[in-house]
This record gives sequence, structure tokens and C-alpha cells, in this order.
Amino acid sequence: MISVKGDILKVKTTYETSPNIALVKYWGKFDEEYILPLNSSTGITLSTEDLQTRTTITLTNKYKEIKFLLNGQPHPVSGRLKKILKFFEEKTLAALGEELVPLQEGDNQETKRKNLKEFLNGDLSQLKLKIKSVNSFPTASGLASSASGLAALSVCLFDVYHMKEEYDFQRSVIARLGSGSASRSIYGGLVEWTGVPHQFLQRKFETKNNEVQLSEQEYEQLSKLCIAKQTHNETFFEDLDVFVVAYSFESKEVPSTSGMLQSTQTSELLKYRALNTAHVHIAGVKKAIEQKDYNELARLVRLDSNQFHAVCLDTTPPIFYLNDFSKNMINFIHQLDSALEYHVAYTFDAGPHAVLLVHKNHTPQVLRAIYEAFSIADTDSLNSRAQQTLKQAMEQEL
Ligand code: ADP
Ligand code: DP6
Ligand code: CO
Repeated sequence: MISVKGDILKVKTTYETSPNIALVKYWGKFDEEYILPLNSSTGITLSTEDLQTRTTITLTNKYKEIKFLLNGQPHPVSGRLKKILKFFEEKTLAALGEELVPLQEGDNQETKRKNLKEFLNGDLSQLKLKIKSVNSFPTASGLASSASGLAALSVCLFDVYHMKEEYDFQRSVIARLGSGSASRSIYGGLVEWTGVPHQFLQRKFETKNNEVQLSEQEYEQLSKLCIAKQTHNETFFEDLDVFVVAYSFESKEVPSTSGMLQSTQTSELLKYRALNTAHVHIAGVKKAIEQKDYNELARLVRLDSNQFHAVCLDTTPPIFYLNDFSKNMINFIHQLDSALEYHVAYTFDAGPHAVLLVHKNHTPQVLRAIYEAFSIADTDSLNSRAQQTLKQAMEQEL
């Protein structure tokens, strides 16, 4: 939407996105600037409406400086966000010029730019963004708010700057600059984000302090290679319910960005994982999904989550994202195995909350068992789909 009122130029757009929860975790960057992951990862983009980010962006000459409100509070404009905004600011002229100024026959790009400049009294720097974003779930607590948050931001910015013709691929690349996991949240279904090839990992790990020197060309090459792609659409998961059992709304003590940097600098297990495990888990997860082998899927997803948390423990100083609730949940899910035809997969991101993949045949039974075992005082800690299913299961038993 674009409107011109007096001397106010206003472009406004709103989008909603959801977190992508990794089934095989990304943890560690090959390069901090380009956000190139040490290992490939794959994750499922949630589609429940209570796990969503809603972002509205306005580009206007009403404000003196950029404003960013997250969940109603002013939020700092980080270096990564600045990098994203720079990409768009460089394109402002061309993008807005076309929309604002009607084309006269014979007009070229230059004339359009000139007209726009005149409209703004020659000062394009007066165009400022107002970003308002709200997460309907805990922020910075381990439910991938950075994934849905930065994905929403990227999609909105492409729209505000009238770059609708660009592909999702570019939205994903820009989202990646804000948060690695956000590159996956641009797509639905199962989404794989490719890590750097092994020969580059070896070069990095062989260098003192892991500080490998690459040419600009090599960075460009890696940047194009390390992109996210949908590998399986939503219909591959129609037998499964994805439930979140949230523990609290508290922010984590160690944000993902600094946690994975510490792990990259200190953990030997992280190197082993990047070289030997992550890609094997990904191949296994994809095969299990295609073959509807849900017990194999559960085995691999659990293993990967546990290995990721082992890497956190192998970090100096150690990082603890799992708490007693998480550990009890892990034990509980394993104990349920003997009673179920299809085992429940659990996965924990950088936080204590459980994300469960449950075969639909078992959901009432599993939810009821969790409800009783964890004496969940109210059902607020469950996402709405889980709440509904639980309510039905309990009514049926009465
Ligand atoms: P999480 O586990 O929730 O992804 P992270 O530590 O990875 O936690 O990232 C949290 C950070 O992501 C927040 O401090 C904030 O800077 C950013 N973030 C979260 N939600 C949004 C949003 N809706 N819009 C923009 N940035 C967001
Ligand atoms: C455990 O994408 O939040 O959730 O790239 O530094 O923003 P940055 O980190 P982020 O890390 C996510 C880590 C994880 C696993 C995953 O989502 O793959
Ligand atoms: Co995150």
C-alpha cells in the first residue's frame, strides 16, 4: 500500500510468519559476517496460529530516526539489522521511484529518481522505517523467535521497498543475515539449510584459532551455496502433530548467537558433529519421512537434540539450556515407548521447552499422559492445538 498525503510519504505492510524448529540443529558459524553455518540443518516450519510473529513496517518521512518496537518495547537496532537495512536503503531510489512517480513517455530510470528527489526536497535520508513486531509466544527463550521474527522482517522489507518480483530465495538470504534459522522460516514444510562443504571445515579446523583466510570469491561462492530450500512440503507431515510444551516465558541467559560462538571457539565435540554427524542425521530424517518410518524419525530427532545439548555442555564455560523439566520430559517420553506403536520425537532448541512430534493415532493418549505426569496446572503451556486435543480426550473419558 502506498499513499501520499501532503508532504508525507507512507508505505506500509504487515506479514505473519512462524518459527522453524530444527529437527537437526544448526549450531556454529563458519563466518559471522556472511552467517555461513558450520553444519547443515533441517527444520519444520510450524503452522499453529499461536506460534506466530506479526510484523508491520512503515516507511515514512514523518520520523527523524528508525523506530523498532518489539512486543511493545523499544528494541536496539543490532549490527545485523543495520546490515539488512543497508541492503534495502541502497535500493530505495530505484524501487520507490517507479511506484511514486507516474511514468511519462520517454522517462528513464534517472528521470524517475530525479522526480522522487524533488518530491522529497532532495533529501532521501529523511525516509525512515518504523518496525513494529509482536511474537505470540515467548521471545528469546528457545522457541525460535529469531527465526520467525527475522523472516517476517525480511518479507515485510521486500514488500515495503516494492521488490515483490524477487524470489523467496532472496528473502531467505536476507533473513539469514539477521538470524541463521530465519533463512528456514521463509518456507513451509521441512526446510534444509546447507552448511559449508567439508574441505572448508577442514581448512578452518586446521588453522590456529580456527581463523581461516578465504578470498572474496570464495566467500561469494559459499554464500550462494549455503542457502535454505524446502525439501518436503506440509503433506509429508499429515500423520504427525507437532506440540509445544512451554516451560516458562523467561528469556534465556545465553542468547543463541553468543552461545554458538562460544561453542565454536571451545568445543571439540562441535567439530566432530559438523564433520561427522549432522549430514548423516539429515539424510536419515528425510528418508524416514519419505518411508513414514516414524520410529526411525523419532530416534534421529532425539539423538540430534541430545547431541546439540551435549555440545553445549562441552562448551567452556558450559551452557545449560535444558532444565529439570526438560530432563524429566526426556525420561518420560522414553518410558512411553513401550506403550506406543509410533514413538514420540522430542527436540529442545536453545531453551527448556519441549517440541514433540506425535503420531496422530496417539495424540490424545500422549497428551493426557503428559498432563497427568507433569501436573500442568493450567494448559497455557501447551499450544492451542494441544489444548483442544487434550480437552477432547478428557471429555471422552468422563
Ligand atoms: P530464540 O530462541 O527465541 O530464537 P535467540 O537468542 O536466537 O532466541 O534470538 C532472540 C532475539 O531475536 C531477540 O533478542 C531479538 O533481537 C530477535 N527477535 C526475536 N523476535 C523478533 C521479532 N519478532 N522481530 C525482530 N527480531 C526479533
Ligand atoms: C538451537 O538462528 O537463533 O535453535 O544465527 O545467531 O541468530 P543466529 O542463531 P539462531 O540459532 C538457532 C539455534 C537452534 C537450532 C536451529 O534452529 O537450527
Ligand atoms: Co534463535
